[in-house]
Amino acid sequence: MIGLEYKNNSLYFDGTKVESIIENHQTPLYLYSENIIVSQFTKFLNAATNQKINNPLVCFALKANPNPALVESLFKAGAGADIVSLGELKRALENGCDPMKIVFSGVGKTQADINHALNSGPQGIYSFNVESISELEMINELAGLKNKIARIAFRVNPKVHAQTHKHISTGFKTHKFGILKEDIFEFIKTSDQFKNIKIVGLSVHIGSQLTNLDATEKAIKEVCEIAQEIKTPLEFIDVGGGLGVDYVKDKSTPSADVYMSSVSKVLNEYSSKLNYTPRVVFEPGRFICAGAGIFLTKVIRTKKSEDCYFAIIDGGMNDFVRTSLYEAYHKIIPLKQNDNEEIKTEIVGPICETADSFATNYPIQKLKAGDYLAVLDVGAYGHSMASNYNLRSRPNELVIKADQSIKVFEYKL
Ligand code: LLP
Repeated sequence: MIGLEYKNNSLYFDGTKVESIIENHQTPLYLYSENIIVSQFTKFLNAATNQKINNPLVCFALKANPNPALVESLFKAGAGADIVSLGELKRALENGCDPMKIVFSGVGKTQADINHALNSGPQGIYSFNVESISELEMINELAGLKNKIARIAFRVNPKVHAQTHKHISTGFKTHKFGILKEDIFEFIKTSDQFKNIKIVGLSVHIGSQLTNLDATEKAIKEVCEIAQEIKTPLEFIDVGGGLGVDYVKDKSTPSADVYMSSVSKVLNEYSSKLNYTPRVVFEPGRFICAGAGIFLTKVIRTKKSEDCYFAIIDGGMNDFVRTSLYEAYHKIIPLKQNDNEEIKTEIVGPICETADSFATNYPIQKLKAGDYLAVLDVGAYGHSMASNYNLRSRPNELVIKADQSIKVFEYKL
């Protein structure tokens, strides 16, 4: 992970000695780095620019990590926002996001969501990425009541199978997301009746933690084919998010450069057929922020049960659910390295469910009560999925700012 190193056997994150954090703050907690999140954003944007992608707009998917300090620094660096709720819309606007850099995805937008978005700036927001014709009808009606024109993009369901965990694959016809090509064409025949919408783009998002780009390329091709059929030029094509993160550290995940060259290859194939070059919008979440966060937790006690050695930690599945919900792998390392023998350990939380596990059969130096651990790459879908399950408070978040000061976000039950 970028920004992590041991000096004299003590863990440092983005230049900060992690033990100095836990001396002053109660675990479990999330520790983020502003430097890392901004540098990942820059890496992503530069990769797009290097591939000569037209006027890229990188809308950070707030669901991955809506921490106010982090999103503020991303917006300052030029990011837009991909949002899916009123809460995320407000979070983006309150922290300096230009409404004309906001795209609004989601199958269940309510009247309140749509009204707030329409009122967000002189022109509303950059795009409602609509996921059904009935949603489009609602947007048209609500925009009409305000005498406004809503900017919309069809979110296409490209009927592809993204190779990822089934819970986070979103691009097949049996998934609730997006609209099929034939239904978009059917709608377009009658679209003149819809006076309060303007079709400005097409979007697609086929899933998350993608480590193979075949389905991504297929999906973008499908979008380009639809663009060809729509006679008026579109302002943009939104290729969604999904680029995976190398949690296992086996280098099998495509880099931002490989991803961008794959996106630009497909778009270039179509640009002559389209006779115009649309702007490209991206909605990355995980790639930008996963590596910008670590989760700090303390071993409460250890216990042996036949040949199982348990380390029971003060963090639980309510604080961080990825390992329980998706059986995801996250590397776990001690804050202080020592010469203890390595033993296979069950690293488990205090919650009353067997699923409450951070790692199983995990080789790590023999742990004892009072040791501290860092769970790595938790900056995406970590705190944003935390809950109060078992009536536990959500963990606090600490941000190492660019000037190395620490900003604290506290949560109480
Ligand atoms: N755009 C849309 C419309 C999305 O639904 C998502 C993620 C993204 C962009 C960002 O995708 P990313 O670049 O982060 O892959 N909780 C799961 C991930 C859920 C993803 C939901 N949608 C996890 O922890 O793996």
